This record gives sequence, structure tokens and C-alpha cells, in this order.
Amino acid sequence: MSKVLIIGAGGVGRVVAYKCAQNNNVFTQICLASRTKSKCDLIAEDIKTRLGVTISTAQVDADHVPELVKLIKEVQPELVINVALPYQDLTIMDACLETGVHYLDTANYEPQDEAKFEYSWQWAYQDRFKQAGLTAILGCGFDPGVTSIYTAYAAKHHFDTIEYLDIVDCNGGDHGKAFATNFNPEINIREVTQKGRYWENGQWVETEPHEIRKDLTYPSIGKKASYVIYHEELESLVKNFPSLKRARFWMTFGDEYLTHLRVIQNIGMASIEPINYEGKEIVPLQFLKAVLPDPGSLGDNYVGETSIGCRIKGKKDGQDKTYYVYNNCSHQAAFDETRAQGVSYTTGVPAMIGAMMLLTKKWSGAGVFNVEEMNPDPFMEQLMTQGLPWVEVHDGDLEL
Ligand SMILES: NC(=O)c1ccc[n+]([C@@H]2O[C@H](COP(=O)([O-])OP(=O)(O)OC[C@H]3O[C@@H](n4cnc5c(N)ncnc54)[C@H](OP(=O)(O)O)[C@@H]3O)[C@@H](O)[C@H]2O)c1
Repeated sequence: MSKVLIIGAGGVGRVVAYKCAQNNNVFTQICLASRTKSKCDLIAEDIKTRLGVTISTAQVDADHVPELVKLIKEVQPELVINVALPYQDLTIMDACLETGVHYLDTANYEPQDEAKFEYSWQWAYQDRFKQAGLTAILGCGFDPGVTSIYTAYAAKHHFDTIEYLDIVDCNGGDHGKAFATNFNPEINIREVTQKGRYWENGQWVETEPHEIRKDLTYPSIGKKASYVIYHEELESLVKNFPSLKRARFWMTFGDEYLTHLRVIQNIGMASIEPINYEGKEIVPLQFLKAVLPDPGSLGDNYVGETSIGCRIKGKKDGQDKTYYVYNNCSHQAAFDETRAQGVSYTTGVPAMIGAMMLLTKKWSGAGVFNVEEMNPDPFMEQLMTQGLPWVEVHDGDLEL
């Protein structure tokens, strides 16, 4: 008997709930809770109709620890899967500590009033989780998440030392909208408008936003303009794999997307500074989120694929070696299975697998862990059968 509490009923929460329900031999009881309970109820109804599995739902404002503690005490889960927003990471970790429950998330903490994400806030919980004998797994989506597991798997099985890591993230899909983000618009725009940053020779190198561009070829998709941006898994990967001489993260953006982004910034709509509008305080970026398409609604017309992977160079038996491991995910196939588009799917499936690893004791340990610190093998095995199969290319041209 393993009870799980999922917090957050957006695109990712929907996929996590679906995948847990599909694996109800492991997740014997599932509760989906969020700020707006009606969204949880819609997902629960859909799961009942399509999978015949009953899940319970609840309302919670995860900004408030006492509310969370009350809910966790009622539900009595073994694990909380946090797929709300990064702003809620610390309150949910606090509530897990108070109630003696394991914790897992997909994105690192960000303070709401500062567009800055780093692991320091969550790593600071290390001693408290350790003393409580509880496990906190950080960053168990696709990137961070699967990309970190890919790196750990490569280091374990294919290299003596890994030296160059390029994480390449391509969304080759088309949702037919002039501008929309694939996950929470506020979080997404904060992420992609900040300065670029990558690791080289023991230090961080900062760039202007989208300063470094290169056309990279993605399997089944083709050449796409790709840009170096800062992404959170780089921080833990360079710490956990000190042999890395360089680590970068590339993301594809279309010209149309970048033009919209530039306009949004130029007219002040990406600002997180509150302004006074007709006697009411509003945050421009939060207002923008309210008028942009809901990422969860993009699914039914979304065509094309995502392709995300790791391109790695290093040494094996004294020889230079290259290795590319990736997954391609079809937006349409994701929607047919879960009624969510590919970006939500590629995040939600790994979160469910991470939860499965903890509940089946394939992953364990007291403290706060990034996923690459865990055994990658049973996770990689599950990826193959849970909808995100991976492909390896040995000694190919990495283009980088
Ligand atoms: N690692 C990866 O690969 C990856 C990729 C994409 C996304 N992510 C992360 O996945 C998470 C979910 O993304 P998403 O696209 O599903 O976002 P979303 O569609 O905006 O959904 C967020 C959900 O969280 C709920 N929520 C927000 N504030 C809350 C609060 N105070 N208390 C309780 N619930 C609250 C929202 O409720 P309301 O409906 O009431 O607003 C909504 O149901 C984000 O943290 C995102 O950064 C990770």
C-alpha cells in the first residue's frame, strides 16, 4: 500500500496523476490537490472515465505550511509530489518535515519577487531531512531530471571521465498559436529572458540573453537554431561531476517566438515589479500570464515532436569518446494518452518514475538529493516502458 499526494493540477499535475493511476499497482491510493479544486476534479473525472481508476481530490493553498500540514495529516501519504510552482517548494518541504513524509519536485525554488533560481535554498534543508530520516528528491522532470539521469548513466556505463556536456532541448512542435509558452508562462518567461550562463574551466561564464547561437540537428526534426541559456541542472551537475571541463544547456527558439519575447520585454510586460493600475497593484508578468493561452489547453492541435538529450565527450580506456542519448516525444501521442501536450508529458512521466523509485525502495537515503546522485539504471529501465524511450548514439558527430 503506497499513498501519494500530488500537489498542482496544471499540465504536469495532470500527467503525473494519469501515470500514477496507470501504475496503480505501485500507487495504490492517489490524492490530487491544488489551489483550485475544480481543476483536480476535472482530471479525476477524466482518469475515472478513461482508466477506471478513482483518485481523491482536495483544495490547498501550498503557500501556507499549516494548510499543507493539515492536508498531509488527513491524507497520510508516504510521499508528496510537488508539481505546483517553484514558489511553493520550501513551504511544501517544511510541511513534509513536520509530518514525516518524503518529498519530490521538478523545479528548484524561486522567490516570487526575484527572477533567480538556484539550489542553495533547498540544499540548506540537507541536515533537517537527514536528521528526520526522510528523502527529498529535487528536479525530477525532464530537464532537470532525465537529462541529469542520462549524464549519470553515461558516467557510470560509458566513460571513465566525462569532460564536455551539452544538454540539447528542442521543441520541434507547432501548436498553431502566434505566441504561447509550453509550461507556466510566468516561470517560463522568467527563465528564458535572463542572462545566459555556462560552466567552463572551473567557473561560470555569463552571456547576454541568447548571445550564443548555433544550428544543431535534432533526430527526426532537422536543423534548428539553438541558444545557450542557463538551466538549473547545470549547477548540480558540475558539482556532482567535477571532471566536467565545460557544461552548457541549449534550447531551440523560433524567430517568431524571440520577436514576441523581445516586444514583451521592450514594452515592460515581462517585468515582475508591481505597478499601480487604477488603484490596484498588479505585476505585469502575472497579468500577461492571465491573457496568454493556458499551456494545458495547447494539446489537441499540437503536432510535431520534442527532442531532448545529452551530448557528451570524454575518455574511455584512454581514448576520446562521444556519446549522445536522447528521447523524442510526440505531442499528439502524449495528448492521446493523457490529454496533455508533450512538454507536460515529458515532465510528468519522470516525476511519476522518481516517485515509483522511492516507493519501491530502488532509491533511498536520508537527505536532499539531486537525481543524478541516485542509481540511474532502474530509472532508465522504466523510461523505456512508461512512454519516454531513449536512443543512444556512440562516437557520432556531436556538432559541438
Ligand atoms: N523539470 C522539467 O523538465 C520541467 C518542465 C516544465 C515544467 N516544470 C515545472 O513543473 C511545474 C508545473 O508546471 P505546469 O506547466 O503544470 O504549470 P501550471 O499549468 O501553471 O500549473 C501549476 C499548478 O500549480 C497550482 N498552484 C499554483 N500556486 C499554488 C499554490 N499556492 N497552492 C496550490 N497550488 C498552486 C496551480 O493552481 P491554479 O490553477 O489555482 O493556479 C496549477 O494547478 C512548475 O514548477 C514548472 O516549473 C518542470
